[in-house]
Amino acid sequence: PKDVGILALEVYFPSQYVDQVELEKYDGVEAGKYTIGLGQKQMGFCAAHEDINSLCLTVVNRLVERNSVSWDSIGRLEVGTETIIDKSKAVKTVLMQLFEDSGNTDVEGIDTTNACYGGTASLFNAADWVESSSWDGRYALVVCGDIAVYATGNARPTGGAGAVAMLVGPDAPLTLERGLRGTHMEHVYDFYKPNLASEYPLVDGQLSIQCYFRALDRCYATYRKKIESQWQKAGINKHCTLEDFQFMIFHTPFCKLVQKSLARVLLNDFLASPKADAESAIYKGLQDFRNVKLEDTYSSKEVDKAFQKASQELFRQKTQPSLFLSARNGNMYTPSVYGCLASLLGQYSAQKLAGSRIGVFSYGSGLAASMFSLKVSENSAPGSPLDKLVSSLSDLGARLESRKCVPPEKFAEMMKIREDTHDTVDHTPHGSSDDLFPGTWYLERVDDKNRRMYARR
Ligand code: ACO
Repeated sequence: PKDVGILALEVYFPSQYVDQVELEKYDGVEAGKYTIGLGQKQMGFCAAHEDINSLCLTVVNRLVERNSVSWDSIGRLEVGTETIIDKSKAVKTVLMQLFEDSGNTDVEGIDTTNACYGGTASLFNAADWVESSSWDGRYALVVCGDIAVYATGNARPTGGAGAVAMLVGPDAPLTLERGLRGTHMEHVYDFYKPNLASEYPLVDGQLSIQCYFRALDRCYATYRKKIESQWQKAGINKHCTLEDFQFMIFHTPFCKLVQKSLARVLLNDFLASPKADAESAIYKGLQDFRNVKLEDTYSSKEVDKAFQKASQELFRQKTQPSLFLSARNGNMYTPSVYGCLASLLGQYSAQKLAGSRIGVFSYGSGLAASMFSLKVSENSAPGSPLDKLVSSLSDLGARLESRKCVPPEKFAEMMKIREDTHDTVDHTPHGSSDDLFPGTWYLERVDDKNRRMYARR
């Protein structure tokens, strides 16, 4: 099969949010800390009657309905999540309820977990399946979802929640460029969830940021090596730089980190560039940094400031539009970078996107990270697959606008209820179905054997 990639994409986010300016006041921190320091506007969150299964049920159902996909035509379904409510039973198995009426049970794939990376692992699995001898000609469906909640304290404003579903198959408007994946994995305790009775992670925030940067450096270096070697085989002798990506999107724990990350990509380009290139206009004023070592710069304010300034315009062009959803909904964990993809597609016209290369950096603490690229099809004609994909995401802004703003006191109260009832058996979870968007699945009841029952609004 040719041009394997993403055919359709669906996003789900909660219908309520807390405003970050109000949260700064409520938390008693300096004004600007969350909004300027972290770059966040609002944060979506779920009441206790939404869990990882309901989020994924909603987003899959929506994708299938809106694209008129038949349940029979799906041959693989992968779930990436780090929101674990059962140590054995996969979210995937819960989603099989949706297939019941069709009689289709021949659906490969299961859950994949490592912090925010599971969605990317699932996408790779799905695309590889379509390209493999195991492929039976049907679609693959990739689902990623999470409820990102932190204990009270400085990490809490970097929460969020949501889910993304992607339909994967041949002749896609967004193809995964073959052979172009740079991966970095290592053993580190930057963010992990050893307490299975709690939804909250243990997190060393500063360490997690260093790990993210290190992974970005390594993935980018490997990606570049691979693309340069492909070019070389085609007789093209050149260095890969940011210029080779019309857009670059990142896993987004908070928007400010992404601005710093794009600056870091420029730093990587600068340090890897031959002497003549290093003197070009884009690197003006950076010559003092010519001999720095990447690994010495993770917490250098000087390097951070200089390269953010130098990359300001590149950030505005290549990355900022992708932060539309993240700034307003927060970190969704596994779907985060795919929410960025949705934002990018929703912000631009098919014509503007056609033919471009989108660099994608996915990071999951612990850690697992990859950089890969999506090639956007050249065909942006009305009714083309690209046009349909882009049009389907153009209502993102209106959907975000239609959410309800909840005061921080109420948000804290709802977080406390989640915390207290997270592993309660034989109960009806707190929350009203009136507070959900129409078509949303929710947790109706947990019975005395800890089995979960869902209904749809
Ligand atoms: N006005 C403007 N900016 C401010 C203000 C203010 N009043 N106060 C602080 N800031 C800035 C700081 O200068 C800093 O920016 P800088 O790094 O550019 O200098 C920024 O706000 C953050 O403030 P800090 O004091 O450095 O950090 P804080 O203690 O608030 O913690 C952190 C931030 C570490 C991100 C925390 O929220 C956290 O642990 N989050 C979860 C972990 C995380 O998201 N890690 C990222 C990768 S892993 C993952 O995806 C889970």
